[in-house]
Amino acid sequence: MVMDFSGFYKLSVEERLRKVKEAAGLSDEEAKTLLNSGALDLERADKSVENVVGAIHLPLGLGTNFVINGKETLIAMAVEEPSVIAAACRAAKQALPAGFKADADEPIMIGQIQVVGIHDVNEALKNLELNRKQLMDIAAQCMKPHEKYGCGARKFEAKALNTDRGPMLAIYFHIAVGDAQGANMVNTTLEGVAPAIEKLTKGNVRLRIVSNLATERKVRASAIWKKSVVGDEVIEGVLDAYEFAKADVYRCATHNKGIMNGIDAVAMATGNDWRSVEAGAHAYAALGQYHPLTKYYKNEKGDLVGSIELPLALATVGPAVNSSPTAKIALKIMGVKGSKELAMAMACVGLANNFAALSALSTEGIQKGHMKLHGRTIAIYAGANAEEAEKVADMLAKEKNFSIEYAQEALKKVRK
Ligand code: HMG
Repeated sequence: MVMDFSGFYKLSVEERLRKVKEAAGLSDEEAKTLLNSGALDLERADKSVENVVGAIHLPLGLGTNFVINGKETLIAMAVEEPSVIAAACRAAKQALPAGFKADADEPIMIGQIQVVGIHDVNEALKNLELNRKQLMDIAAQCMKPHEKYGCGARKFEAKALNTDRGPMLAIYFHIAVGDAQGANMVNTTLEGVAPAIEKLTKGNVRLRIVSNLATERKVRASAIWKKSVVGDEVIEGVLDAYEFAKADVYRCATHNKGIMNGIDAVAMATGNDWRSVEAGAHAYAALGQYHPLTKYYKNEKGDLVGSIELPLALATVGPAVNSSPTAKIALKIMGVKGSKELAMAMACVGLANNFAALSALSTEGIQKGHMKLHGRTIAIYAGANAEEAEKVADMLAKEKNFSIEYAQEALKKVRK
């Protein structure tokens, strides 16, 4: 039985909060933090980054109707763009009752060491191979503090690169990072093994850094949108839109942006590094030829099968999560146990957002649903208060005129 979140968006903020408090078992204090907009106090902000003069906030909303591997899951999403959350909710609702299936790889990150100034590349490669055990032992030693969380160095491989500045070596360490994003432990390990690598290659180590293309940490999700629920026109429209993205890179960039609407929103809500998520997703999409991160086909019953695959390097523990007052609460609301489950939920949201955008774009057009919601933002920009904004937005949608000037005119009428 799916939690009844139908009409959630029609409730007041306080009513929604009461409902989510009950559903996610939030404490009074956690609910209070949300009610106070999760305000980040300046003292804490000042310890997070440099030269602090203030803090900015984003709305935190909930994606409803998500059933992932049979489990009802509320999705925490922080995003400034109207209609992203509504779109995810709608697509998830249309995928019920089966919902989404998802799975994720073990959380393994790749770290790179660059070696330059090598006289004999083949000799250097041979020496690395002969001393594989010694290098892995050093890496294991560096990872010792994290061993209890199932982390550790798994393997390394080296390859020669011919560059405009001469031959170089790229050495790739594969490191299991558990529920951390992993950049810090990978970088520490790389710096730990670098001196031994310099000796063995008789070269100079330059870069020692994690790669944001986390191809060993991929996640996959899929869902079926039934013909009886979404109709033939949507199915044909989504399939045409998918082919367009496959055939045209300009369209494909926007197709993938629509996927990242949802994925980034969850990354932001849960205190994750969305720049690394973005870099990894687009670099992965560009492997071979830049391609859509989702795929669609029609099955033998005429239903639409959608799927997504991308690398996601995420944390459910560590300073990134802890430095945000709301990130821990967001993870509690989602009920995810660890970085793999978070990645699975994010992949489902990315797929849902993509399906929702394609089904709107290929049928009624994006403006009807998106601009109706965006109308509230325009109304507030025009000076409306929260209550007036709804009325002004309705007037803008009715006239299909979303200019600030018209919003100001509409506001005057509402006030009369
Ligand atoms: P609708 O048909 O009015 O929705 O869609 P509905 O009345 O049928 O409601 C169905 C469910 O949707 C509801 O179930 C809610 O879960 C949810 P219920 O609660 O009633 O049982 N829902 C909402 N949730 C929260 N707030 C709301 C709301 N309305 C419905 N206000 C909708 C309206 C906007 C969802 C639809 O038109 C839609 O999905 N449009 C696409 C919007 C979109 O993709 N926006 C992203 C921004 S555009 C962009 O950046 C990406 C893009 O460029 C990507 C690309 O090109 O591929 C487009």
